[in-house]
Amino acid sequence: MSLSQSVTTLARKIFRTTVRPLAAARLSAFWRTGLPDVFRPPLEFLVRGETSAKDRQVQARVEKRRAEIERSGRPFQVISNSGGLIERSARDVTRFSCVSPEWGMFLYLCAKAFRSQTIVELGTSLGISSSYLVSSFCEQFVGIEGSKQLAKIAKRNVLSISPTATVVHAMVDEILEELISRWAAELDLLYVDANHNFEPTLRYMDRFAPHLKPGALVIFDDIHWSEEMWEAWRILQNRQGFSHALDLGRFGLCRWQGGTIHPKQYSLAFYTGWIRKYPPSSQGVIGPAGVALVLLDVLSPSLASTAMTSFLVGSIFGDLSAGTGGLHHFVKLNDARIGAFGIEERFQSSGIFAFKGSFVFIGESFFLLRRAGAKRNCEESGDEGKN
Ligand SMILES: C[S@@+](CC[C@H](N)C(=O)[O-])C[C@H]1O[C@@H](n2cnc3c(N)ncnc32)[C@H](O)[C@@H]1O
Repeated sequence: MSLSQSVTTLARKIFRTTVRPLAAARLSAFWRTGLPDVFRPPLEFLVRGETSAKDRQVQARVEKRRAEIERSGRPFQVISNSGGLIERSARDVTRFSCVSPEWGMFLYLCAKAFRSQTIVELGTSLGISSSYLVSSFCEQFVGIEGSKQLAKIAKRNVLSISPTATVVHAMVDEILEELISRWAAELDLLYVDANHNFEPTLRYMDRFAPHLKPGALVIFDDIHWSEEMWEAWRILQNRQGFSHALDLGRFGLCRWQGGTIHPKQYSLAFYTGWIRKYPPSSQGVIGPAGVALVLLDVLSPSLASTAMTSFLVGSIFGDLSAGTGGLHHFVKLNDARIGAFGIEERFQSSGIFAFKGSFVFIGESFFLLRRAGAKRNCEESGDEGKN
């Protein structure tokens, strides 16, 4: 792992530990305001990180396979977001394109809590997320992967867990109608993680909607990754037919009910520490969390100092993983509680340089000096947005 990735991972861990009590309080409010219990196991895991020994065995089996693939060291061909083939290292694909062990466990707990028997995954890559999804009640799994090389490995991986599972090598658009008529007549779980563009994301949802069972779960990946995905999510989280829509930073989780119902919305996005590139305002430190930290600073300066540092470091380094940018003029004088930081990014794919923002905080106040709109070119960046 490179230094910046290690720092990102560490910063996120510190950040999440710091905000855990706030996240737990928020989650309790969800249960009080009627979020169905079926969401409890995955969400409690996400916030508290607790799992059973049996669940950890499932994770160990999948992670062993991931480690073997990473050790093989061979490059993989991956379909980029614009539909072309690009080459990525084994390490890149296993670590950044595929779900992390934590989010994998989350998917497994979702499939288990929803007792999902029929599952479709768009974009299987090496079959890491697929392996998590098929590890509970799954009786029929179909995954679609546009890279032949990846589809072959994914198929082997899921078959070793679920003998009835299959992975088809195809582009989603080419196979969509056949997929629906042949395998996906009645679905318990749909996981959308292939083509991260606005129009196909909404179109796939419209096409699958008549085939979702009431109570089915639809998981959209990378909803904050690009402007298009964010725009798609803004529509999806209001879509008729969903009863509940949850923004978890990385995943958008929707429970299908059908009919004319409109979803109740929930968000844990801030607390998962996931990098949210869109909307750009989600990257700032001003807002409820900034206010909470300032209050903490008044009540307990030493605790606030730790929290504030991890909060700032979390949001800064989180924002940097997509490019090769660096931290810009970060100063923090703990005792005086005066500091300033800025963020800069340079995108590997385009060379576009975007200055993202600059903040100062003095005592109990944060000041935004300047924030530039994000200029992005995700066209050929494949999955670099993953973290
Ligand atoms: C983010 S990765 C999937 C990771 C996997 N779900 C996991 O978490 O382990 C996206 C995958 O979708 C594939 N892909 C992208 N666009 C596609 C398309 N239009 N049709 C089929 N596959 C596509 C890519 O080759 C890539 O392997």
